[in-house]
Amino acid sequence: MRIDIITVLPELLSSPLSHSIIKRAVDKGLVEINIVNLRDFTKDKRRTVDDYQYGGDAGMVMMIEPIDKAISFLCSQRKYDEIIYTSPDGEVLNQKTANTLSTKENIIILCGHYKGIDHRVREHLITKEISIGDYVLTGGELAAAVITDSVVRLIPGAMSDDESALSDCFQDNLLAPPIYTRPADYKGWKVPDILLSGNEALINKWQFEQSIERTKQLRPNLLKDSDL
Ligand code: ADE
Repeated sequence: MRIDIITVLPELLSSPLSHSIIKRAVDKGLVEINIVNLRDFTKDKRRTVDDYQYGGDAGMVMMIEPIDKAISFLCSQRKYDEIIYTSPDGEVLNQKTANTLSTKENIIILCGHYKGIDHRVREHLITKEISIGDYVLTGGELAAAVITDSVVRLIPGAMSDDESALSDCFQDNLLAPPIYTRPADYKGWKVPDILLSGNEALINKWQFEQSIERTKQLRPNLLKDSDL
């Protein structure tokens, strides 16, 4: 898989995508993450990417030309399955979208900035708009890092067996069961006996019941969409 992230702040993206499972997936050649500096597609000396908005409202708008040039350049090199724009008014990211995106070959993520982008970009160049939640960030870079992280860890081979995505929260629209490590008794706060029993079948049953119980209590809306 290849992910191209178009941004005006490349530095913001390098660190979040250079560690742990994401780094390993890159090192193993499972994914190539390419950061594209939008300013490389400008033509003036000041490398301008934004301008005042028509209509006189406050706030700068990202111009269509550098974005079109950046996307056209990438699309001349390979075919892209999705061209995503990070925006608070996009579809809210969930595990299902992350799963779907992890099966794609090539995607572009365009990070929004300033007041937003010229609407013609959204009408003519973007195939999908994703929000990471109902709040407004300063720019789309952190959203792009979140999307990339959630997708890359799902690429087959990115995680080892014991990190398996199959036991992730949300994978069946259920929250994960509680987990514990040593010591079994800390200040009298005990690990549930069942987890120390060594009986795998009973442990699996307990974990499943806990998942359902926690989902009912904390995120009942998820159960509506589950197969249970
Ligand atoms: N840009 C600003 N806020 C955002 C959000 N919540 N999700 C995605 N991109 C954004």
